[in-house]
Amino acid sequence: MDLGISGETALVLGGSQGLGLSCARSLVGAGVRVAVNGRDPSRLQEAVHSLGDLAVAIPGDVSRPDSRKAIVEQAQEQLGRISILVTNAGGPPPGPVERHSHAVWMQALETNMLAALEFAVALVPGMKEAGFGRIVNVTSFTVPQPYANMGLATGVRAGLTGAMASLAREVAPYGVTVNNVLPGLMDTGALERVYNAQAEREGITPQVAKQRMAESIPMGRLGTADDFGPACAFLCSRLASYITGVNLRVDGGLVQSML
Ligand SMILES: NC(=O)c1ccc[n+]([C@@H]2O[C@H](COP(=O)([O-])OP(=O)(O)OC[C@H]3O[C@@H](n4cnc5c(N)ncnc54)[C@H](OP(=O)(O)O)[C@@H]3O)[C@@H](O)[C@H]2O)c1
Repeated sequence: MDLGISGETALVLGGSQGLGLSCARSLVGAGVRVAVNGRDPSRLQEAVHSLGDLAVAIPGDVSRPDSRKAIVEQAQEQLGRISILVTNAGGPPPGPVERHSHAVWMQALETNMLAALEFAVALVPGMKEAGFGRIVNVTSFTVPQPYANMGLATGVRAGLTGAMASLAREVAPYGVTVNNVLPGLMDTGALERVYNAQAEREGITPQVAKQRMAESIPMGRLGTADDFGPACAFLCSRLASYITGVNLRVDGGLVQSML
């Protein structure tokens, strides 16, 4: 299927592994030139190499306000105007709400809420001017369905979801769409940290914790990174021109909600 975005340009934050890399891969597959971001230089180089000639590496830590401007500038230097933004980063640590310090909350806010907002605000003017733009935020199934010990992840992403819902209405007249993709329990880096923590809390092996998670999903299996990227790329496509302000769950039926 032709997604109609061949030749467009994208910045994929936190794109050097897992779900972000899957988004980058699907965009490259649609002919998009992609600036891929991540902190670890060797992981980033490996990812970009695996994506081929349409991808370039933009190292930097999105949680640091001072490095966000540099990431945008480098992406624009390499690719020109950016028409597609995918916001992503590592998730906040799991754990009971009572145990998180102020510093941990601030780090989660910077990484998983404020970074996405600031990148969007930086790139929206160019998208509006061009009359085409796509913003896709990687959030979480815990936004519609809260989980114990996921208070940080749920709290900051609920805030991001609210702000992005407003932005979607503000930029809709300019051909710019803003949507969120909500991973369920996907067998990638973030989930490994969650089931390892669960195993430790409950005195079970990580394998048993992982198996329990898989059994809690109507499809009977954890998601994979490859389940995710195509949904992200579709929302970035011209085919999705009339879809904005949605929360698309990619979760094998995990979230128990009709809407
Ligand atoms: N997997 C799941 O089941 C699941 C479920 C719900 C929500 N989510 C959320 O979806 C997101 C992606 O999950 P994942 O499993 O793909 O995570 P992952 O495997 O840990 O990958 C995270 C990616 O983001 C990069 N990154 C992390 N922190 C960054 C930062 N501050 N600045 C720039 N890049 C950064 C990482 O590379 P570097 O470390 O080299 O920077 C890596 O490329 C996470 O936020 C996670 O919480 C995942």
